[in-house]
Amino acid sequence: MDYTSVLLSLFIFVVSAIYLLRQAIKRIRFINMVDKLPGPPAYPVVGNALDFMVPRNQLMKVFHNRTAKYGPIFRTWAGPLAELHLTRPEHVELIMNSLKHIDKSMAYTFLQPWLGTGLLTGTGAKWHTHRKMITPTFHFKILDVFVEIFGEKCQILVEKLQKKADGNEFDIYPFITHCALDIICETAMGTQINAQNESNSNYVKAVYSISELTMDRTTKPWLHPQFIWNLTERGVRYKKDLSILHGFTKKVIAERKSLRNSEATKSNKNEEDDEFLGKKKRLAFLDLLLDASEQGHKLTDTEIREEVDTFMFEGHDTTTAGICWSLFMLGNHPEHQEKVAQELDSIFCGSNDPPTMRDLNEMKYLERVIKESLRLFPSVPFIGRYLKEDTTFDGYLVPAGCLVNLEIFHVHRCADQFPNPEKFDPDNFLPERVQGRHPYSYVPFSAGPRNCIGQKFALLEEKTVLSSILRNYRIESLEKLQDLTLMNELILRPESGIRVRLYPRNNESS
Ligand code: HEM
Repeated sequence: MDYTSVLLSLFIFVVSAIYLLRQAIKRIRFINMVDKLPGPPAYPVVGNALDFMVPRNQLMKVFHNRTAKYGPIFRTWAGPLAELHLTRPEHVELIMNSLKHIDKSMAYTFLQPWLGTGLLTGTGAKWHTHRKMITPTFHFKILDVFVEIFGEKCQILVEKLQKKADGNEFDIYPFITHCALDIICETAMGTQINAQNESNSNYVKAVYSISELTMDRTTKPWLHPQFIWNLTERGVRYKKDLSILHGFTKKVIAERKSLRNSEATKSNKNEEDDEFLGKKKRLAFLDLLLDASEQGHKLTDTEIREEVDTFMFEGHDTTTAGICWSLFMLGNHPEHQEKVAQELDSIFCGSNDPPTMRDLNEMKYLERVIKESLRLFPSVPFIGRYLKEDTTFDGYLVPAGCLVNLEIFHVHRCADQFPNPEKFDPDNFLPERVQGRHPYSYVPFSAGPRNCIGQKFALLEEKTVLSSILRNYRIESLEKLQDLTLMNELILRPESGIRVRLYPRNNESS
């Protein structure tokens, strides 16, 4: 070896050694800072991942016990990844309110094969541009049209439930899922899938299956590497579900585009084609997206699919869970149900008309019931973010690079904010009580720049569905809260649905 080569090798060695040393020092600093936080003992390599080696239906219990033992602020290790858990309003505010910590945690990358980098999973400039483009689609004038669609789908729901209103027990969850799916398909994509009449939909099954598989993968670090995941039976199932979900939205988008082209030709030919134009006025979210894309920032077909898939995911499972938890609570609390029924009687005075936006705005007590149900059972119980820079929480300096778990489920149970936090009390949302609380003590739709874009839509939908059911039926829950097993499958669901008895309201027979 000549002199130059020796010198070059030495140089490379020294530079590499310095680099590795700096990385090692950084890593040691990171570990030391994280381990100053309280938290369960972690094993080498796997960290706390073994805590998740329990049946799926025990996971919420594991989360709950862990928070009770180490909260309000603690850390866990998922293999080499550190996760900070925040369960107090003033701590989650530091993240939710920030424009810096807007990146989602690693768990969301497991949603990306399905949702790509749409609004929920995306970040950076793309997220900013799309958020600005999509926000106007939730204008109240557009929501007004959506309320009409909610009413139509609820009419079908009420008819379907008529056969069940005989006092025999049944699970109401699938009825609500199919109704919410009909609503989101028509409002988001302008298409009717008739899930309420053809309930064995492959699309619905694939949504359920992919949510469960994603959650399973998130909690098992050994399933994180893509090549291992692809080899597993679950990875194969995931791929199948994905092709059903993408196949469906791609088809709808292609059909919508071609319909818009033919509508444009038709309306050019005959501006007075009333029936056709009448239908056209019912713009779906997809139309608004296509319009925005034609007029401003151009979206690719993939970007459009990502946003539609995101709406399909965020916009039906979340509301379904919210509605079902409200029904469950009202079925367990006849005194609150009676108050809702009286409110509905005073609004509708015996009419069978579907609710208007004005009627929905008058449903103040029902709104408190919905809010209280979302407090106890937030549809999205945990949110994950990535800490972009070192930040101090409650005296602990937490290093950049940590994952952050914003535990909405536990924030909503802070006893200093909600005395007697496990009690169902819709009056928690009387204005005077809300005023006395921390603004981040109730965040079912998150808050700040990455809050839920569909929250007004969700509240209106929940009110329409619940009022339609409760104007017609009285509901009894079979189970008490302590009999239910909570499942965290991205969405907070009851393990075995919501078993109820239904009675016609005008013909009480029990
Ligand atoms: C009760 C019903 C709902 C609840 C509890 C809920 C809750 C949430 C929460 C907690 C987030 C933040 C998620 C995160 O940071 O990881 C979120 C985001 C989002 N939600 Fe909702 N949601 C509901 C209904 C809806 C509906 C009906 C739509 C659409 C029609 C929707 C669309 C979205 C979108 C697009 C985002 C991502 C926003 C962004 O990051 O810019 N949601 N939602």
